[in-house]
This record gives sequence, C-alpha cells and structure tokens, in this order.
Amino acid sequence: MTQQEALKILKAGHNVYITGAAGSGKTYLLNEFIQYLKEREIGVAVTATTGIASTHLGGLTIHSWAGIGIASEAGDDEIKAIASNRRIARRFENTNTLIIDEISMLDAARLSLVNRVAKAAKGSFKPFGGMQVVLCGDFFQLPPVARVGEPQPKFAYRSSTWEELNPKICYLTQQFRQAGDALLDVLNAIRQNEVSEEIKKFLFSRRGAIISNNRVTKLYSHNVDVDAENFRELSGLSGEKMEYYMNFEGIKAAIKALKGGCLAPETLIVKKGAVVMFVKNNFEKGYVNGTLGKIADFSENGHPVVKTLSGKKIIAAPESWSVEENGKILAKITQVPLRLAWAITIHKSQGMTLDAAEIDLSGAFEEGMGYVALSRVRTLGGIKLLGLNDIALKVRQEILEFDAELRTRSEEVSREFKNKNIDDEGKSRAQNKQKSYSVSEIRKSYVAAYKKWSSEEDEKLIADFRAGQTISALAKALGRKKGGIVSRLKKLGLS
Ligand SMILES: Nc1ncnc2c1ncn2[C@@H]1O[C@H](COP(=O)(O)OP(=O)(O)OP(=O)(O)O)[C@@H](O)[C@H]1O
Ligand SMILES: [Mg+2]
Repeated sequence: MTQQEALKILKAGHNVYITGAAGSGKTYLLNEFIQYLKEREIGVAVTATTGIASTHLGGLTIHSWAGIGIASEAGDDEIKAIASNRRIARRFENTNTLIIDEISMLDAARLSLVNRVAKAAKGSFKPFGGMQVVLCGDFFQLPPVARVGEPQPKFAYRSSTWEELNPKICYLTQQFRQAGDALLDVLNAIRQNEVSEEIKKFLFSRRGAIISNNRVTKLYSHNVDVDAENFRELSGLSGEKMEYYMNFEGIKAAIKALKGGCLAPETLIVKKGAVVMFVKNNFEKGYVNGTLGKIADFSENGHPVVKTLSGKKIIAAPESWSVEENGKILAKITQVPLRLAWAITIHKSQGMTLDAAEIDLSGAFEEGMGYVALSRVRTLGGIKLLGLNDIALKVRQEILEFDAELRTRSEEVSREFKNKNIDDEGKSRAQNKQKSYSVSEIRKSYVAAYKKWSSEEDEKLIADFRAGQTISALAKALGRKKGGIVSRLKKLGLS
C-alpha cells in the first residue's frame, strides 16, 4: 500500500495499524496525518513508546501521556484515579485521535492499561473510549523491554485490546530510507529470515570500515558499553569539566524507585562540545525526553546551554522528578535533565534515520536488534560494523507468520477502499460531534482557543515572545491554550 492510500483510510476516521519495513515512511505518514488533523483543529494526541521516537513526531511517550508511568497493571481504583487526574482527564477530553508510534515496544498489558484509562476518562465502553486509534510500527523491530520481576511481556497484537480495536491494516510497501542502496538487500534478507553466506560477506565488508562523516552515532546493545563510549568521548574533549549532582529528599525506598526510572545520571559530567540528550519533557523551554543537541556553553549560573539539532539554544536548568501518594510528595530528586549521547542503545535508536553509524552487535540479545540497528542508516557506506553475534541477524518465527497475515489483510483493505470516495473533510460523525463539544468547553477557559490567528495577534505574539515572555504569560494574554501558542510559534518559525 502507498502512503497516499493509507492517508485516505486514516482521514476516513478508522482505527488503523500502519506497518511496513523500517524506512517505508510510516512515521512520515503519521506526520502528514497529524498536520491534516491540526489544520482542522481535530484534537490529536501524538505519542510513541520511547522518548526519542516521540521526538520524530513532536509528541510524548504513551506512558507519560496516558498517565500510566511505569505501571504494567492497575486495579480499577487506580485506573479511576489516573483518569480523574485533572491534567490527564483534560488530555483525553481534548483528544479525538490517539497515535502511538513504535508499537512493537509496547507490551500487551500496557496497551490494555491505556484502553482502560481511556474508557474511564471518556466515560464510554467503546474501545479507547471511542477515540480513533492509530497504532504504528513494525514487529520485526524490537519487542517490549522485559523488566526484572515482571512476566515476559507479550506483543501488543496479542492483547484482547488489539482484538477489540480491530484495526484496519495498512502495510506500506515503498522504501524511502535506503531507496536504491545495496544495504536494502541485506535488510530484506534479514526480514525474510534468509541471510545467506553472501549477504553476511557483504555485511562483513563493513567491519572496521572507515566512514567519512563527522556525525557518526554509535549504537550498542547494552547500556554499559554506551556509558563507556560516552565517557571515552568526553575524555577526548579539552574543555573544563562541569559536574552536576543529583539532590534527593524523602523516603529512601521511593527515592530508589525514582532513581531507577530517571534517565539522568546521579553525577552528570559534561564539557563544552559534549553531545547530549534531554531526558525530561518541558514544553515551555522547548525540549522533550529524547531531544538531542550539543553543549554550546554554560550560563551565568553554571547551567549547560544546549544547542539542539534544530539550532535552538536552551539552558538546561535542574528539574525535579517526584512520586506522590494521595497528593503528598513521598520523594523528590533534582538533577540537570541531560545525559551524554555520542553513543545510544539500539533500543533508543528505533525510529531514527542516520547518515552514519558505528554499530556493535557483538552483544545483541534480542532477535530484531541487528535489523533495527542496521536499518537506521541510509547506505551501506555509512556503516562501520564493530561486531556481530548469531542472534543479531535473526527475526522471530512468530513475527514471520504474523507478517504474512498482515500483508494479506492490507491487500484486502486496499481493495476495499480502492473505489470508495472519501470526503476530504470526512471525519466520522462521532468525531465532529465531540470536537464541537470540546471546543465550546475549552473556550470557557480560553476565549480564543482554536480561532484563526489575526495579524494583530501574530504581531503581539512575536513582540511579546521576543521580549522574553513565558508561554504561560503569552497564553493568558492571548486567551489561548499553551499548546496553541507553541504551535503558532513553530508555524512562525520562532520555536
Ligand atoms: N513520502 C516521502 N517523501 C520524502 N521522504 C520520505 C517520504 N516518506 C519517508 N521519507 C523519509 O524516509 C526516511 C524514513 O522514513 P520514516 O522514518 O517515516 O520511516 P519508518 O517507516 O517510520 O521507519 P522506522 O520503522 O525505522 O521507524 C525519513 O528520512 C523520511 O523523512
Ligand atoms: Mg518510524
């Protein structure tokens, strides 16, 4: 199926699973659909399973968006508590379409949790409370992370929630990332579980190869290797070392849990020129968990100034992570929300497109790991292979079988929609109804929400933003939601 065919089905308001090989343009298609919805002011929630993957869409992790955090199960009372949290309830209320990218890494239990929270928040027994749900990903890529002390996670498509949702299958069959490159033969062979000696030789030709690109990302299967490599790179920089220490307060056990879930290190050591990644969401300042950049400088009070990939400079001031119980803070940790990022795990790289990468697959421990790592890069010439083990080039038998079914079902969907004439504005009636309800509700608090921007408003926005006003202050002055301000600033090229 082409991206255009799939877009037509998405616009018709169906629940859809978008799949296809790495680089078939799934995320690109999602972005087109998101833009379409935003232009029509249809509430869309944009999420993915990892922080970095969510940055490709300008979204959040699904865990954070739906308020489920790291939980894999919850009783009905807990679900109710999450759904009635004001921030979460408002999110659901404003959402007609929920998008989740990189679904292969979301386990069945957590997908079901999101479904239950959605039903509770929307007060509806329909799947996901009646929202249009768009799942996207490729099950040949990484499975959900197995956590210590939890049962082996199941793929999302094996959940009752998936069955309940019964998504239309859109299998994208074009290739955009490696179009025309020899690397595609290697990747297709892995995907079909047909890695011949010849293909291996082809790949081995990249062992220790020299790549002439100064923006090489290093990919490892394990965190220890990532940390060691980042430390080595940091040592190679000549500038002054700056250290930031985590602060803790509260109950010991709760602090330990917080530290376990926080991606910022206890001691963060950086220098000017260090490649870093943000590990927390802060929309006002313009970063999310996964935003990549380089330390350009240090501010007057010693905080790192990060220049992001899009060229924006952000002061990384310390942030807090906390756990609450019944509205009381049990524990709180505070740290500069950064970690070094010359090297990242293959897990975090899923969804990225890279020009050049050094890839170490000697410690691969999951089927699909080799496919994910190698498929990040556009050309075979952009790969330097550091090591490879047996498991790296394997894919799961279970997925091979499921893939055949997906292809057939996508062809059926293609036929079904071939001659259907879908109104371009055609959202399902339910969505339009919900939209008018939400907008009038929202306008009680934000008088100008979703209204067309006048040139006077734009001028005021630009002037006040340049004068250093915060997003909150701008939102208040203009009677709009903070999200509306942020998107307008983006549209005006200011953010
Ligand atoms: N229609 C298109 N026109 C131009 N470029 C495209 C198009 N579709 C995708 N691309 C580009 O191809 C690359 C791969 O696309 P994308 O990241 O959307 O693939 P994906 O299917 O999401 O892959 P993955 O499974 O690795 O996440 C990106 O650089 C993207 O910008
Ligand atoms: Mg993608």
